[in-house]
Amino acid sequence: MTPRAPKMHEPLDLDFDDVLSAIADENMPSIKASSARPFVKWAGGKRAILPELLSRMPGKYEAYTECFLGGGALFFAVQPEEAYLSDINFPLVLTYTAVRDDVERLISKLQAHAEKHNKTYYLDRRDQLTRETDPTTIGALLIYLNKTCYNGLYRVNQSGKFNVPMGSYKDPTILDEVNLRAASKALNRAKIKQKPFFQVPLVKDNFYYLDPPYHTTFSSYDGSGFGDNDHRKLADFCKQINAAGGKFMLSNSDTPLIRQLYQAYNIESIEAPRMVSCKGTQRVKEKELIIRNYDGRKSEPDRQPT
Ligand SMILES: C[S@@+](CC[C@H](N)C(=O)[O-])C[C@H]1O[C@@H](n2cnc3c(N)ncnc32)[C@H](O)[C@@H]1O
Repeated sequence: MTPRAPKMHEPLDLDFDDVLSAIADENMPSIKASSARPFVKWAGGKRAILPELLSRMPGKYEAYTECFLGGGALFFAVQPEEAYLSDINFPLVLTYTAVRDDVERLISKLQAHAEKHNKTYYLDRRDQLTRETDPTTIGALLIYLNKTCYNGLYRVNQSGKFNVPMGSYKDPTILDEVNLRAASKALNRAKIKQKPFFQVPLVKDNFYYLDPPYHTTFSSYDGSGFGDNDHRKLADFCKQINAAGGKFMLSNSDTPLIRQLYQAYNIESIEAPRMVSCKGTQRVKEKELIIRNYDGRKSEPDRQPT
């Protein structure tokens, strides 16, 4: 049977610790092997290409800034001293603040969800997610739904209700207390904001990692989609980062528009593993771009397009 075309956003389950241990050698002493890892499985999550991203980080920068946070695979791999993390998805951002500020209460709420988990319970909690206002209640609900829904997807309907069906996991790991506490520690000093990318502050010498929804594929993370015009706006934002003296690294799919928008910068093509399911599951490789306004690991930006 011919596999269907790979979906760019299907999460790939690689063991985060294995990926990190494999690359946390003497060449990358800043990489934190085996501490906190993403506490949600996120569509488009970057754990599968972490080695490619980590080897292209700048040698020196002030604050680490991630404007399309999702599961934060790169943030947890680097665990920078100073971080500015943002995403447009409000429940997701509240979940990060709850993990940072109220992890013990979040753990006990998640424990209660884990104990009661079944199909009816899942459907009731799904309806509850966007009705709640307490960040910790929202955080526990979001993590519970993320661990039990189909493929860890986050999707809402037109009226903003989370509508992903339940996944068919035999025994999903809903609560991982050790990792939640480690993630809370890693987030301890991070600024966490709900913002569209273009409202993120531009600061000289900061490093920006930008991982938008891929160009030309399914991209309705928050119900609004991310189309060609958003990609153009993002390219303009990168130009502003560059003009402000910041360093950026962007991941995206390899399409003519993306190559054209970033032609002034350092564009590299890499092969990213993807999960494809037809009958069973299968891994395939797909071309993806890593775009930077600097070269090598230690140099300053080599050009300043205007
Ligand atoms: C590909 S995912 C990021 C995955 C992440 N790097 C990881 O490792 O899990 C893209 C993220 O961008 C967010 N997003 C979509 N449109 C946005 C916008 N206009 N501004 C900021 N974030 C946006 C989505 O909510 C989603 O979390």
